[in-house]
Parts: sequence; C-alpha cells; structure tokens
Amino acid sequence: MHLDNASASGASGRVTQNPWRRHQVSIAISLTVNGKAVQATVDPRTLLVQLIREQLQLTGTHVGCDTAQCGACTVHMNGRAVKSCSMLAAQAQGASITTIEGLSQDGTLHPMQAAFRECHGLQCGYCTPGMVMSAVQLLADNPKASETEIREGLEGNICRCTGYHNIVKAVQFCQSGKQPTAA
Ligand code: FES
Ligand code: FES
Repeated sequence: MHLDNASASGASGRVTQNPWRRHQVSIAISLTVNGKAVQATVDPRTLLVQLIREQLQLTGTHVGCDTAQCGACTVHMNGRAVKSCSMLAAQAQGASITTIEGLSQDGTLHPMQAAFRECHGLQCGYCTPGMVMSAVQLLADNPKASETEIREGLEGNICRCTGYHNIVKAVQFCQSGKQPTAA
C-alpha cells in the first residue's frame, strides 16, 4: 500500500491525516544578508546554512560536517563569526549576516582574501570561505595576534589539504598590511 506524506488509508478504508503533516508550520523571518534586506519563509527546523545556500543561493558558504566541527559554514552574524550549520535560520531574525560573497567590495577582494591568494593559503578551496571568515574575525579581535594565537584562533576550522602553514602565512601577510603582488 502506498502511503504518501499527507494521508494513510487504514483497514477501515478511512483516510486519516498524517499527524506530522498536520503540525507543519512555517516562520516568516526578516534579516539583512550582505547589506540587502531579505524576507524568507522557513520551516522552524531550517538551519541558517540551508537558508543561505538553498534559498538565497549563496553557495560560497560550504557544508563540511553539519555538526559544528569543521568551520566550512562560517559566516558573520552581527559582526561575530558563527558556524551557520549550528544555528536555526529563525535565530537570525533581525540579524545582519555577512557571507564570503559579501566580503569583497565593488569587485575588490577583502585584504584577507587577497592575502590567501598571495600566500597560496588554499589548495582545494573547500575550507577557504569559512577559514577567511574566521581569520577576519580573528584579526578584528586581535590585530597583533602571534603565530600561536593565529593557530589557536583558527582551531575551529579544519583544512584537509594545506597543513595550515600557508593559511597562517596568509593571516600574517594580511596582518602586516603589505600589498599583495598577485594580480
Ligand atoms: S559544516 Fe558547519 S562546522 Fe562543518
Ligand atoms: S584547502 Fe582543501 S580543505 Fe582546505
């Protein structure tokens, strides 16, 4: 017997509503994403990263683990780095979100993005958006962070390719204020 999401037919032939379907609700939320006002309707279980990637199509924010381990989904919420897989979209009601797409201005890379390019702070690039968002937060909090503090500050972001060495160099390059040579 085929059971769909909406109803089930019992032995009596009586059609009953699926109790889960009956309680489905949606929430309307308003927030600002990369400087633009956004209105969205979400299931209460929708994660912030799902809203960002699937509804807003901002796919620079990645999903690596979905369990708040890897940092690939890091965005800024009200100026603080957060793992968007560990938050509900509804929790972003009224918030200002910045994703990797919102970091560059008028086509010019953010100095941290330019530093990653300059220092080859990436290989496959999967971790890079989250790494950059965390690194920006790190230097905002501690502009003179030592190498140890940089390594500690990026502990919540996992990279499977680089061995972290060039990522640390990129953060230090950004910290130095030097001009990148990469075109
Ligand atoms: S996908 Fe969010 S921390 Fe890994
Ligand atoms: S560059 Fe591949 S995971 Fe970091």
